[in-house]
Amino acid sequence: MLFDSKLPDVGTTIFTVMSRRALDEGALNIGQGFPDYPIDPRLADALVAAIGEGRNQYAPMEGVVELRERISLKLKASYELDIDPHAEITVTCGGTEALYDAIQAVVGPGDEAVIFDPAYDAYEPAVRLAGGRCVRIALAPPAFRFDWDEVRHRLSGRTRLIIINSPQNPSCSVATREDLDALAALVRDRPISVLADEVYEHVLYDGRRHASVLAHPELRERSFAVFSFGKTLHATGWRVGYCVAPAPLTRELRKVHQFNTFSIASPLQYAIARYLSAYPEAWTGLSAFFQAKRDLLAGRLRGSGFEPVPAAGTYFQLVDYGALSGDGDVNFADRLLKEAKIATIPLSPFYAAPPAMTLLRLCIAKKDDTLEAAADRLCAFAARLKRA
Ligand SMILES: Cc1ncc(COP(=O)(O)O)c(C=O)c1O
Repeated sequence: MLFDSKLPDVGTTIFTVMSRRALDEGALNIGQGFPDYPIDPRLADALVAAIGEGRNQYAPMEGVVELRERISLKLKASYELDIDPHAEITVTCGGTEALYDAIQAVVGPGDEAVIFDPAYDAYEPAVRLAGGRCVRIALAPPAFRFDWDEVRHRLSGRTRLIIINSPQNPSCSVATREDLDALAALVRDRPISVLADEVYEHVLYDGRRHASVLAHPELRERSFAVFSFGKTLHATGWRVGYCVAPAPLTRELRKVHQFNTFSIASPLQYAIARYLSAYPEAWTGLSAFFQAKRDLLAGRLRGSGFEPVPAAGTYFQLVDYGALSGDGDVNFADRLLKEAKIATIPLSPFYAAPPAMTLLRLCIAKKDDTLEAAADRLCAFAARLKRA
């Protein structure tokens, strides 16, 4: 049967492509963002217990009450916020579903959504499936700072959504409170919602503090904030995330969620609720945990030709291979896979119009042994290139 694809130019994501190729090539995969170490065994025990107790039927559409109450307490502890667990929190299938639902809730045919490149790849297809169009604004490496004047110029009467991601994957940059003030000034008196992808909220380095839209009174009333237990509990395969938004926005988001996934795996929700109730501060050491990994990898690579770019947050580290080669990043990542047996993620696929750059993204959510082995392979490859 002949039919028109709704997303003719969308292929398999760069993450899946590189992970598959890593398997084919027998390469070490420090490309895709997932931990290679186990979850806390107490979290695993909580899941077994929830299943044993019979928590195996449909969960409520909005999410299990115990979990939403725990999330509310966690938001209080993190940001001193009072969030209504019943009207303002929805449990979703990872952060990904929350992003999709929020976009479908507010973007309609002909509408525009502003996104910042290098942009996480889930945003644009969701905007297009809603009938909208993305206005893509490039952040320039290596600092990847926002230019709010440019953003103002790119707004139109059709702009309905601005999507920000902080800490940002893949640039490892973070938005400041001043960025949020500038954003608030831009959307004031305009019918524009904000979608804040804050899945790396607990991974900021060198003493930085996360500036959440929820803690910005003006932005809070027009924002969806998206979070992920995949990142916070090192359990990306559990696919549990949540969206926090004021009641009117939450009502609209739930209309989409209800007919998208309906509800999220019940025992997983009970397990997370129990675990957070027993260990309410399970997530507080995340920045230190990942900062040690960042420093381990960056320390081993410095001076090798894979120069670490200062990382402010996320569980990634960018490296600049410009001293070794002028190849484009997709080609260079390909060579690394084949010749050094190591999978990395090139940055240009995250841009609509990539700037000239020689950057690769490495994931630091790996065992120290994995990071050391990766650094050894990269250093050996760099040494071979320098000799050639
Ligand atoms: C910036 C960003 N947003 C959203 C997600 C999706 O989160 P989840 O795995 O909870 O769906 C990811 C996952 O890598 C991410 O990096």
